[in-house]
Amino acid sequence: MKPLTKLTVEEAAQFIEHGETIGVSGFTAAGAPKAVPAAIAAKAEVEHAAGRPFKINLISGASTGRSLDGALARAKALGFRTPYQSDPDLRRSINAGETHFFDMHLSRLPQDVRYGFLGPVRTAIIEACDVTKYGEIVLTSSVGAAPTFCHKADRIIVELNHYHPSFLRGLHDIFEPEDPPGRSDIPVFHPSDRIGQPVIQVDPAKILGVVETKLPDETGAFDPISDLTAQIGHHVADFFAREIKRGLIPKTFLPVQSGVGNTANAVLMALADNPVIPNFQMYTEVIQDAVIALMEKERVTFASGCSLTVPSATLESIYADWEFFRTRLLLRPQEITNNPEVVRRIGTISVNTAIEVDLSGNVNSTHVLGKHMMNGIGGSADFARAAFLSMFICPSTAKGGKISTIVPMVSHLDSSEHSVCVIVTEHGVADLRGKSPASRAQLIVENCAHPDYRPLLREYMARGGNGHSVQSLGAAFNMHLEYGRSGDMRNTQWSGVPSN
Ligand code: COA
Repeated sequence: MKPLTKLTVEEAAQFIEHGETIGVSGFTAAGAPKAVPAAIAAKAEVEHAAGRPFKINLISGASTGRSLDGALARAKALGFRTPYQSDPDLRRSINAGETHFFDMHLSRLPQDVRYGFLGPVRTAIIEACDVTKYGEIVLTSSVGAAPTFCHKADRIIVELNHYHPSFLRGLHDIFEPEDPPGRSDIPVFHPSDRIGQPVIQVDPAKILGVVETKLPDETGAFDPISDLTAQIGHHVADFFAREIKRGLIPKTFLPVQSGVGNTANAVLMALADNPVIPNFQMYTEVIQDAVIALMEKERVTFASGCSLTVPSATLESIYADWEFFRTRLLLRPQEITNNPEVVRRIGTISVNTAIEVDLSGNVNSTHVLGKHMMNGIGGSADFARAAFLSMFICPSTAKGGKISTIVPMVSHLDSSEHSVCVIVTEHGVADLRGKSPASRAQLIVENCAHPDYRPLLREYMARGGNGHSVQSLGAAFNMHLEYGRSGDMRNTQWSGVPSN
């Protein structure tokens, strides 16, 4: 067996050609390659300066870091991007129409790549903490869609990142379902069930070469918990505690999926502070800071996820105490973490963040004022549709109160009223299960909308007419249009607007 070829980043970047599709490891900035993408961005700038076109199509697990999405967007080197992003420069490029972005459910991504719906993948660039001449690749702080990229790509470049210790072998559970017809079940019955291999096994002849680095993940820290996010967290925890007391959630609780960000951190902390909620497990997508803090307090007993997205200091403390964390953490491909079959079977409780929610309970997770892409749908709807109980949370207003996040009709739809069970803002909880459209609307306005907006929304409901829904077609977007006109939704007038 030949030893693997060593490459410099510049040599690796020279393999990449204009127009090709690249699949990268990573899920969030965790586990994403860093050095080779930055070198591809530098190559793009040289090509552009010489008057030659250079753009690639980039597929990842989810968002990536600043030296990947950020550097390539700034170098105007991204022609096509899927399935998710959160980088300000890439967001600008997408909203300017310079990068074509396909927003998709993250659970579907690997399957769509395997079936060829996204075209052939020429090169996979994979961050690893270990790689052997036998073609065994040990990933780092995420799995994402790396197994599928490795199997489908013509060739693989490995970024061997010595920042991550090789003792991570065993953290990952690599499993790819068969293709239909006749696909068998995915035998995950509990968050800790292992069903695959600790490594991605590839044909070593496909590995173009190995670039060695020592670079931390480009993950940031969260803001401290604010009064507002704490309030949302308390409402969420009180709601689940009530459901346990009513016997509608088992006394042992159920595995939790939580979205990413400051509010999600506050929710997890509030769950842990509630004495009725027992120690619990996570069956989630992103394992973030709060999960690790709660694991240290033994409130979270196990976490299955797709990435370990924590600041470097936290990651280093996890590696320093590996004996403790080794038995409590497991990383899977996104096709499994977010798989509707598994999420429904194990009874996941799902908590995700909305940009806006309407009076029917429809959720917009992606588009600001119906037009501008924020990040993407991510895994939110994978979980929302399949969960035992699906909750969406958000502050009741944005932009200093000038925008109500509770609107008559969402300006873009991601999770429909049929998948959304409960809405929570800092003002309270609307439990939509088993409710008619009129009751849903009333609960959302009276329990969740900001008091400044309740009279406006009540007036809107009164105009809705006599159908099954409370909606008024002529007025549904008037609050959004008012924000465009005066910069403040509170100035909305309904008079003169047709009712239907
Ligand atoms: N209209 C206009 N802007 C709005 C808005 C609205 N209704 N609601 C929020 N915003 C703006 C905020 O003002 C803020 O803007 P800024 O960056 O200029 O300050 C920005 O959107 C982010 O809002 P914030 O309240 O800080 O929320 P967040 O960081 O918790 O992110 C989402 C909220 C919805 C954008 C984020 O959770 C997301 O991308 N979700 C989709 C994917 C997902 O759910 N993934 C996890 C599933 S596993």
